Amino acid sequence: MTKYKIFFNNQMVTFDNALEIRSPETNEVVGILPAFKKNQIDSIFENAEKAFETWSTIPHQKRIDYMMAFGKIMLDNKEELAKALTSEVAKNYSDSIKEIERSYDYIVETIDEYKKNFVKPKVQYDNPQTKKGKVSYQKKVALGVVLAISPFNYPVNLSLSKIIPALVLGNTVVFKPATQGSISGALLSKYFYEANLPANVLNIVIGRGSEIGDEIIENKRIKMISFTGGVDIGNRIAEKTSSIPLVLEMGGNDPAIILKDANLNAAVNNVVKGGLSYSGQRCTAIKIVFVHKSIANEFTNKLVEEVKKLSVGSTINNSDITPLISSSSVQWATKLITDAIDKGANLEIGGNTQGNILYPTVLSGIKNDMMIFDGEQFAPIIPIVEFDNVQTVIDDLHNSLYGLQACIFTQNHKEFVRIANKLNYGSINWNFASSRGPDKFPFLGVKNSGFGTQGIYWALESMSRMKTYVVEK
Ligand code: NAP
Ligand code: G3H
Repeated sequence: MTKYKIFFNNQMVTFDNALEIRSPETNEVVGILPAFKKNQIDSIFENAEKAFETWSTIPHQKRIDYMMAFGKIMLDNKEELAKALTSEVAKNYSDSIKEIERSYDYIVETIDEYKKNFVKPKVQYDNPQTKKGKVSYQKKVALGVVLAISPFNYPVNLSLSKIIPALVLGNTVVFKPATQGSISGALLSKYFYEANLPANVLNIVIGRGSEIGDEIIENKRIKMISFTGGVDIGNRIAEKTSSIPLVLEMGGNDPAIILKDANLNAAVNNVVKGGLSYSGQRCTAIKIVFVHKSIANEFTNKLVEEVKKLSVGSTINNSDITPLISSSSVQWATKLITDAIDKGANLEIGGNTQGNILYPTVLSGIKNDMMIFDGEQFAPIIPIVEFDNVQTVIDDLHNSLYGLQACIFTQNHKEFVRIANKLNYGSINWNFASSRGPDKFPFLGVKNSGFGTQGIYWALESMSRMKTYVVEK
């Protein structure tokens, strides 16, 4: 078990106050990290605010060079980072490597977009007829100190998709990783240190959200918050902060709607991958499946056959289904299964647990009075609802608390468009499982699923503001 240091001020440090991180897989301590106390928080923001004065004014190419140097160091150390990531969140090793590679691509794409759309000022002339003789130069400038709060499930990617756009624009960052995710966060801070990033430009704050979270989000020096995580914490941030720009990416209950003309094999494959990868612990995971009653039996049988093929077990063997993040997640998932069965659902497969593993579970006969109908399982459970008229699905989804993504499986494009136009979601996929990527695409949720937009261009947009210079022509 390793004692990690973090990049703090201008050096790598450790403190007496320690946070132990346990593996969700073995329950062993896999890392000890320096944790912050409440009374240290304000000085971190103060330092970040001071660092902004210089960082925001250095040539943009220098900031790009720092980001690329960091990215290269991260990629060169991807095995170290993937092992840490796997150990603290029980993502299988090969998916951890993919997450890091995707994050490197994210850096490159962010820099491209930054150079294309955020560096050069736009010029606007007054209409010559009015003869006012004015010209406006419009620049995008950084905001100041950005607070980045990331969740456990993508501890590298969902941290860097906030940190990189913020920094390249010239903001400084206070970064609060999830507790399970803090080892990855500490390693990211080490790679920034090795890339010679100036002091206090990136400030990692490790500690449990329940202990230091409010102290962080209420700091008066924050100029923007980018949060990804659950609805409760996201809404708490929205309540406790005022007049600060916020981007909140929160929970989802993404539906798949399978019409009777759908390509069934493709729909089954998408539901398995979309619903069960990383054991269902993705905001964009398919969390409920509506299937036309004429094909429901065939769909369910095929789905169960595919689920049987999934490997269940350890991260190091790259099992498809690995342990959930905590025992309380297992308890929550089990409660949803039990509630559904008690109210008449059929357990087609799964439902059993072993430590923090929940075997992949398919439930049919789901009705809208069951908790799982509009609850976020964040676990490998596929609930199936049969429908006769798709309008009833549209009506049910209209009442959903969530609105991240939906997917519709049909060979009829017109019908896809007709239904998609009636659904209130951030994105709607035609014959694809819901997903955040490609990272260039806008990514957003409505209702309880979020506020504001991510995706490479939009992340840059959300962390900058317009500044105009009006001069004589
Ligand atoms: P979470 O419990 O809401 O935690 C998210 C982050 O908030 C963590 O860093 C957490 O730190 C921190 N936090 C906790 N209490 C806080 C407080 N009072 N003030 C400030 N920060 C606080 O979410 P999670 O369990 O890590 O992630 C799973 C959830 O995230 C799911 O609901 C999932 O749908 C959602 N998610 C959404 C998206 C999206 O883009 N829509 C993407 C990924 C995940 P600690 O870990 O120390 O508590
Ligand atoms: O957990 C939420 C992530 O934003 C999902 O990303 O669709 O690329 O797995 P993904």
